[in-house]
Amino acid sequence: MEKFDPLAHFTITDNALSFGDFDLNDIFQLGYTTPLYIYSKNIIKNKIYMLRNLLSPEFKIYYSIKANPFQDIVNYLHQYVDGFDVSSIRELDLALSTGIPGNNICYTGPGKSETELEAAIKSNAIISAESKLEIEKIIQLGSSLNITPRILIRVNPNYTQRRAGMKMASGSSPFGIDAESVPDIIRWIENTKLLLEGFHVYTGSQILDADAINDGQYNTFKLLKELSNICVQTVNIVNVGGGFGIPYFCKHRPLDITSVTENLNNLLSEINSGKFSTGLHTVIELGRYIVGESGVYICKVIDKKISRGKTYLITDGGMHHHLAASGNLGQKVRKNFPIYVANKITSHNTEKVTVTGKLCTPLDILADDVLLSKSVVGDYIAIMNSGAYCLSASPINFLSHPVAQEVLL
Ligand SMILES: Cc1ncc(COP(=O)(O)O)c(C=O)c1O
Repeated sequence: MEKFDPLAHFTITDNALSFGDFDLNDIFQLGYTTPLYIYSKNIIKNKIYMLRNLLSPEFKIYYSIKANPFQDIVNYLHQYVDGFDVSSIRELDLALSTGIPGNNICYTGPGKSETELEAAIKSNAIISAESKLEIEKIIQLGSSLNITPRILIRVNPNYTQRRAGMKMASGSSPFGIDAESVPDIIRWIENTKLLLEGFHVYTGSQILDADAINDGQYNTFKLLKELSNICVQTVNIVNVGGGFGIPYFCKHRPLDITSVTENLNNLLSEINSGKFSTGLHTVIELGRYIVGESGVYICKVIDKKISRGKTYLITDGGMHHHLAASGNLGQKVRKNFPIYVANKITSHNTEKVTVTGKLCTPLDILADDVLLSKSVVGDYIAIMNSGAYCLSASPINFLSHPVAQEVLL
């Protein structure tokens, strides 16, 4: 099985991390300063190319903006993906600002307000409806706007997604409508002014086990076939989620993407019959898998000190920019993200250190007891795999320090 190498997608020039044609000095000369997120266009592009090569062309790849809403990334991805998955008006606006047509946007998420639903309907986005009450609101808004809204029913399946870092379906759930209640909803919708385009199932995030994804997808396709047979109209869209994970820690192994895509291709070839339209759009929506490995968080060593035998590197960054690396506000088992001294990557002169941010809380640890190249004040720390759920998923207002800069190179 392939080993996890956090530097595999990067080049090292003169013992320092570099990003395509840019080394750190070039980037600072462009006017950027630490703390800084650097994202690599090449890594993002290669991920999409790989998926396109492996997946049947019938699959539509959507980017889930929640993974990283940096405008330059969303703009860049517009040329490579078929659509966007959004969950707020801001994300909808980001998607629309790329010029993508509304019908290539899927608006998902529980608790959508009337303002959000109205914005989604007006922009012709497909709304993934999460409850019966939400569908009633969509019908009302559609008739007052004189637009026929287009929806998917988000289904909460009755099977569990094994091995998900975060399970998002089965059992009792705020997400979607329980599978057993969906047949009645389908029949009810038939007499309303609503276009039921199809179904959406999203079972979980950060899954590294290909067999677990394959089992989940087998169950999803089976469920979708059953539900489609209840529909009077043909089903035009099925959004089968994704949840493809990336390795973060040394015991992780990269996802066997060949196995996952082969399974999806097989399942799709079986679905091309029955109540599905011939031009069925089969969407997989991915966030972390597309952008997660493209990002590096860079912060500068501001102070170095020894306290009762332990060496601390205190940086100008912290958990307010990178909550995930700090352990998500005291997560039970805290693990270190892959971390390096960015300007001394391959040095053999190492030391054990704890890297902190500049916040006044003991939770502000970026790496605890790690072996790093020996560093001095002014050196740069690089936290790898920081492209997804990092800056936008961090408490940026905590202590009111400036927000980290971001650049896509
Ligand atoms: C409905 C839905 N779709 C897509 C995603 C993106 O997931 P990931 O980043 O794991 O690909 C999420 C994440 O929570 C989600 O809730």
